[in-house]
Amino acid sequence: MLAKVLSCAIIGLEGFMIDVETDILAGLPSFTIVGLPDKAIQESRDRVKSAIKNSNYKFPNRRITVNLAPADIKKGGPSYDLAIAMSILSSSEQLSVDFTDSIFLGELSLDGRLRRTHGILPMVSLARDKGLSQVFVPLDNAEEASLLENISIFPVESLAQLAAHFKGELEILPYHGEKDLQRRVPSSYAFDFSHVKGQEHAKRALEIAAAGRHNILMTGPPGSGKTMLARSLPSILPPLTTEEAIEVTKIYSVSGLLPPDTSLVTERPFRSPHYTISHSGLTGGGQWPRPGEISLSHNGVLFLDEFPEFGHVALESLRQPMEDKVVTISRVHGNVTFPANFMLVAAMNPCPCGYYGDPFRECKCSVTEITRYNKRISGPLLDRIDIFIDVPHVEYERLTTEKSAETSSTVRERVKVTHKTQLERFTGTATFSNASMSPTEMKKFCMLEAAAQSLFHTATKQLHLTARSFYRVLKIARTIADLENSTGIKTHHIAEALQYRRKEPF
Ligand SMILES: Nc1ncnc2c1ncn2[C@@H]1O[C@H](COP(=O)(O)OP(=O)(O)O)[C@@H](O)[C@H]1O
Ligand SMILES: [Mg+2]
Repeated sequence: MLAKVLSCAIIGLEGFMIDVETDILAGLPSFTIVGLPDKAIQESRDRVKSAIKNSNYKFPNRRITVNLAPADIKKGGPSYDLAIAMSILSSSEQLSVDFTDSIFLGELSLDGRLRRTHGILPMVSLARDKGLSQVFVPLDNAEEASLLENISIFPVESLAQLAAHFKGELEILPYHGEKDLQRRVPSSYAFDFSHVKGQEHAKRALEIAAAGRHNILMTGPPGSGKTMLARSLPSILPPLTTEEAIEVTKIYSVSGLLPPDTSLVTERPFRSPHYTISHSGLTGGGQWPRPGEISLSHNGVLFLDEFPEFGHVALESLRQPMEDKVVTISRVHGNVTFPANFMLVAAMNPCPCGYYGDPFRECKCSVTEITRYNKRISGPLLDRIDIFIDVPHVEYERLTTEKSAETSSTVRERVKVTHKTQLERFTGTATFSNASMSPTEMKKFCMLEAAAQSLFHTATKQLHLTARSFYRVLKIARTIADLENSTGIKTHHIAEALQYRRKEPF
């Protein structure tokens, strides 16, 4: 009897429905899987056969043909095991159930248990969009899958248990996970703003950056606390919205990076790849395209420490994604697009030795060396950075005596309010933060009060602001005003925003 069961393939982040059709005919015993299967699928033959036997079902001793359709979708990975096993049980009439409303996902182990499988969330998401009502997933993926509403998630421990469920011998109950993200958020961070002594100027700039999702570059001598400041940034970021959390979880799900105990990403990602990272490590790639660091920091922070040390190709590859908020990877079988909406936080020394402009140590670099060092960051890349700050040395005295400063949770409250203001402001548009406003949106949302207008006018002339820096100042001023809950942009908002513009080293 011909049996058909539904499963799903993932290419990039996108799911595709797969029909798993099994036909069993008389003839010499054989077990063939067709439909462009790769090596991983051939391996699944062994797992499926062994799992069926170890679940006390018969593996038919006849000619078995499994077809994964459509044939033109290149399939990989072990996630079809369960669907193949169910279609064999159905085709051999050991189970007689109508499966048209259900989708089966997951890898089998030889003893018939289901193993945690990568990419479950985007698959469940597709199943829901296709109007299916039941998804059977490995128990260890149930939490992850349950984030989506309007579809029933059945956590399956083993093939035997699932077969018993369909025979009515026992009932697997749908899994209802915690959908309120706020309650899932853990609230302890390794680094807190209060650990950083002094550096009020830098902390203020980071707060503004976090609030409006502005890219920021910190420049300062070694040991001034740049790395420490960047690492404490996650503690002040606004919480993920449910939609954002699902996007991030999908990326981590296909990358196999969801930690075993937490199947859902509830924190904004913070990625800090080393400067030796390759271009494809940063942007993504491979035969089965995997998200790179820029996608793993989607909706979060990409921290590039020792910024000029990154390879030229790697740095330049950031430009397009920073503009488009997605990255497209070309491959033989068509392109794959991953989201890449990250906030860039970069840190660098002012010169090769690190002490140019330092009041306490002498800089040993020549003008040429300093210029060459700074040139490693190209103009177009710098153009995509909103906030530039100097992070000078904090004197030893202050480090030891200064009382602890404002904690991250206090700062975070302000950032959260500002985040909400922006969510409301940009509802129904493709924009999500002040940093990504279009010129038209800036006209609409950046109303300058009269005094601010005239200050900005003068500054634009005297400082020879380019069109790009003009808009940058305006966006930052919007965020600064938001932090004060001010609808109009006032003089001191513009004045502060002007401080964050880039200054040439000479
Ligand atoms: N402002 C500061 N407050 C507290 N500790 C600091 C500060 N600046 C530097 N430190 C200490 O110095 C160490 C080195 O700082 P780091 O962030 O690595 O500097 P950078 O990245 O600028 O070279 C930190 O681990 C921290 O212990
Ligand atoms: Mg450092």
